[in-house]
Amino acid sequence: MTQRTLVLLKPDAVRRGLIGEIIGRIERKAGWSVTALEMRTLDRAILEQHYAEHVGRPFYEPLVTFMSSGPVVAVVVEGERVIEGVRQLAGPTDPIAAAPGSIRGDYGTIVRENLIHASDSEESAIRELKIFFPGLS
Ligand code: PPS
Repeated sequence: MTQRTLVLLKPDAVRRGLIGEIIGRIERKAGWSVTALEMRTLDRAILEQHYAEHVGRPFYEPLVTFMSSGPVVAVVVEGERVIEGVRQLAGPTDPIAAAPGSIRGDYGTIVRENLIHASDSEESAIRELKIFFPGLS
């Protein structure tokens, strides 16, 4: 089942020089490839769209502040079961609960600064890819 997903390398990953490390882990999975990539600083408008389902939740404002605090790298990844697979590679939201070997488990300690976003379903992937890469067919 070939799929496409949106990955964001969050501002902490960029600040800490982990772009290559994280993209490398994704690229080394058999059959997965990066098909588009852009570094940009996100404004509130795009974050409001991206995190629309979380508006009003206690973590929403800190999340938007953090996600606009520096550049992110937006990446399109394609391949076999890539939506579930990248989420698995990332580990759970809280890095302390994430197993060693996962990206968050190896590099994170703070919930907010959890390095990577990855679409959580096919529906989310389609919606998020339209926001970040509107030109994709
Ligand atoms: S839920 O309830 O499963 O939908 O929530 P979850 O997927 O765990 O989190 C949704 C996004 O909010 C981020 N998050 C936080 N940011 C800052 N502070 C706190 N405490 C916090 N808790 C959750 C979480 O990383 C998710 O963002 P993405 O970009 O998808 O990682």
